[in-house]
Amino acid sequence: MSNSFDRHRRLRKTAAIRDMIRETHLRVEDLMYPLYVQHGQNVREEIRSMPGVYHLSIDEYRREIQEISELGIRSIILFGIPAHKDDQSSEAYAEAGIVQQAVRAAREENPDLVIATDVCLCQYNPAGHCGIVHDGIIENDSSLELIAKTALSHAQAGADIVAPSDMMDGRIAKIRETLDAKGYQDTILLSYAVKYASAFYGPFREAAHSAPAFGDRKTYQMDPANYREALREAASDLAEGADMLMVKPAMAYLDVVRTLRDRYDVPIAAYNVSGEYAMIKAAAERGWIDEQAIVTETLTGIKRAGADIILTYSAKDVANWMKQGK
Ligand code: PBG
Ligand code: ZN
Repeated sequence: MSNSFDRHRRLRKTAAIRDMIRETHLRVEDLMYPLYVQHGQNVREEIRSMPGVYHLSIDEYRREIQEISELGIRSIILFGIPAHKDDQSSEAYAEAGIVQQAVRAAREENPDLVIATDVCLCQYNPAGHCGIVHDGIIENDSSLELIAKTALSHAQAGADIVAPSDMMDGRIAKIRETLDAKGYQDTILLSYAVKYASAFYGPFREAAHSAPAFGDRKTYQMDPANYREALREAASDLAEGADMLMVKPAMAYLDVVRTLRDRYDVPIAAYNVSGEYAMIKAAAERGWIDEQAIVTETLTGIKRAGADIILTYSAKDVANWMKQGK
């Protein structure tokens, strides 16, 4: 007599069988590690709400590049903390700016490292907004020039990937045009295409000293309630020339990751942001959860949803666990 129901448990019987049929494999190559760089020397300051993540001066950061390279991490994304802020966000595109220095230093330490840069103005101006502010309005079109200038200066320093996170309209086209005009046809454009106005950025804003001085980011970042709008954002950025699309944050937006994966044939990235990291660290410190198991499950889930690349502060921990064969 045949079964009257399916025996799914057959395929779960032993570890070897489970390993054989596992559908999603997290690899260290999937992970992009965010780093915060600042001016000065011997600076290695832990960020209060992000245990294990530091503000690094270039000398300390060089050591960090060595360490993560030895662990097998293949790519980084850089965030800068400038020496000063002004209305023109001038350090964002200065040749001797902190990110530009960091790109060159990373290239020296590890020529094969994939170096991405976050392209934005919010850390660099006193208003703390991602575009230029005029009469309390975050202007779209006048911001594009400076954003493109910033991306170009990162490319000139040697970045492989520039990743604009400002959410101004038309920035992808403007950056592509600016890069191409200067001979940087091969610089990859990773668009923060679908970036929500999220409370999960809290620890980052503290870390990057980039909280808005007035108002919020809701006139340019997306409403967390919107899904169809995310598809319109992705479509525009692809039409403008983005090579890869990012969804940010990750955990609460995996439906968007899945749809972008199914709809488009470009690589999809998901940003497992500061607040997501902080929650897990905090609970783990209290002994309430098993950090390794939770991080592995979370990142595997993000990959299963369709992300090819995961930006995560846990990259170093994951690489360490993998190295120890845990
Ligand atoms: C700023 C920027 C933010 C993040 C990356 N780039 C924060 C924001 O938009 O306020 C978030 C990163 C994180 O939370 O880990 N353009
Ligand atoms: Zn910004």
